Amino acid sequence: MPKHISRLIILLVTFGAAAYAAKVFFTADSFYAYGHYRGKSVAEIASDKPKYKGSEYCQSCHAERYAEWSKGVHHSVEIGKVVQCEVCHQAAGGRDAGGMFQHVATGIDHPASGKLPVPTDSLKLCPLCHEKMPGRPAEQRQIVIATHAGTQQCTACHNPHSPRMIVVAGAAAGQAETGAMGKAAICAGCHGGEGVSVNPVWPNLAGQHSAYLVDALKAYRTGARQSAMMSATAAGLSDADIQSLSDHYAAMKLKVAASAAGSASAAAGKAKADTCATCHGAEGVSGNPAWPSLAGQQKDYLVGALKAYQEGVRKNEIMAGMAKGLSDADIDALATYYSSATVH
Ligand code: HEC
Ligand code: HEC
Ligand code: HEC
Ligand code: HEC
Ligand code: HEC
Ligand code: HEC
Repeated sequence: MPKHISRLIILLVTFGAAAYAAKVFFTADSFYAYGHYRGKSVAEIASDKPKYKGSEYCQSCHAERYAEWSKGVHHSVEIGKVVQCEVCHQAAGGRDAGGMFQHVATGIDHPASGKLPVPTDSLKLCPLCHEKMPGRPAEQRQIVIATHAGTQQCTACHNPHSPRMIVVAGAAAGQAETGAMGKAAICAGCHGGEGVSVNPVWPNLAGQHSAYLVDALKAYRTGARQSAMMSATAAGLSDADIQSLSDHYAAMKLKVAASAAGSASAAAGKAKADTCATCHGAEGVSGNPAWPSLAGQQKDYLVGALKAYQEGVRKNEIMAGMAKGLSDADIDALATYYSSATVH
């Protein structure tokens, strides 16, 4: 064999051996496992955890929020239930910087490289932990969104950092005023500034008889009438507050749209309403100031009230008897009729 041919062969074999050794020693095990890309990269990117800094980190710059939060129910250290700032506001730490070619997921390094998001849709955020659902342990406080909040943001009433603090819209304005009219600003968050409630399952108060409102508020205060929403509010009212608030709402004119008037259901309700007229008036305005007027009341509230009498949840001897014989269809028809009878 000519000398130069054998040199060439030795060179090729050495080159081949070096290439094989390089493949064996320098490529990752997963190379080509799933075709022409690195099979492990997906798992690696997924395992890249956000870097939490912990709530203490926020304290120095957001002292006020931190103070509210650390005194609030979302910071119940003694029972091991702490909703950390970063649960709602996202991780505040930047990711570890890798080597030059190593994948690094981007994250905000707050405050150095950006602000953290402020959750704007609390109707999505808070129900993650508080929506009533079967299987959710009863110790975790739960609410039925539709009846509790309707379409209102949770933050309209709850301070997210200390949610037992009820911050009802208008309350801040009301604090400037003293006495009962300042308190009416608190009521307005639920019963509306004009006495027309913001949620159809809550009652309108405008134009209602003052004497009835007084009785109702005192019943909440003593616990004779139960409502999670009203008990706490009524507990803080003096007799004088109750009287002036009741007069305040009684003096308002009830302004509601007569939407369902004339419908078949309303006509069926009118036919059934004869028995009720003795007390609640021919047009839903009661003659006796101690008995509630029903005209223009929220339909869903009327349905709820009648069912509550039926089930004994709301206790009143007269109404328990009146509601006992009503079918669901009757209740719906009566509620449609009264909610549409705008006679005030
Ligand atoms: C070194 C100080 C500092 C620390 C620590 C800090 N922040 Fe901030 N934060 C700021 C500054 C400055 C702003 C910008 C304020 C502005 O522009 O109104 C801000 C803005 C925010 C905003 C947006 C406010 C808005 O109105 O848009 C949120 C939410 C926030 N921080 C949450 C947090 C949380 C949660 C932590 C703890 C994990 C934290 N911050 C830690 C200084 C800090
Ligand atoms: C349960 C969820 C939740 C937790 C926990 C939470 N926040 Fe918030 N935070 C919110 C919501 C919701 C808002 C928007 C407030 C609003 O709309 O009134 C907000 C607003 C803020 C703002 C902006 C305030 C402004 O005036 O614009 C800052 C700053 C902030 N939070 C810091 C913190 C800090 C610091 C912590 C921990 C000590 C924390 N938050 C814990 C939900 C939360
Ligand atoms: C990550 C889960 C989580 C999120 C998100 C969350 N909460 Fe909570 N919440 C809790 C826990 C845990 C408690 C404490 C329960 C306890 O003390 O047993 C609590 C307590 C409460 C309470 C007090 C209930 C009582 O005992 O009277 C209210 C009210 C509340 N949260 C409202 C909210 C609102 C409003 C939001 C949205 C801004 C929100 N929560 C978001 C977990 C959460
Ligand atoms: C219009 C005002 C209002 C809105 C909107 C509202 N809440 Fe409430 N919430 C209240 C009041 C009032 C209470 C009773 C407070 C009390 O009993 O001390 C309450 C109580 C709660 C409780 C404690 C229930 C219990 O069984 O003790 C939770 C949890 C709660 N709210 C979560 C939410 C969530 C989540 C949202 C948003 C989907 C929301 N709330 C919207 C006014 C409101
Ligand atoms: C957080 C929401 C909320 C606030 C704030 C609130 N209420 Fe209520 N209120 C309700 C709900 C819900 C009911 C119905 C409860 C029931 O079914 O017994 C109600 C019922 C009433 C009733 C009985 C009405 C009837 O037709 O039987 C009166 C009176 C009343 N509220 C007055 C007030 C006054 C006065 C204030 C302010 C001091 C106030 N409320 C604040 C939610 C609220
Ligand atoms: C004998 C008199 C009487 C008759 C008849 C009567 N009611 Fe009543 N109704 C009352 C009294 C008194 C109350 C207040 C009870 C209380 O404080 O819970 C009331 C309360 C109500 C309420 C709750 C109103 C509110 O604002 O919370 C509804 C709804 C109602 N009645 C519907 C009816 C219907 C429908 C009928 C006919 C089927 C009827 N009532 C017949 C006396 C009567």
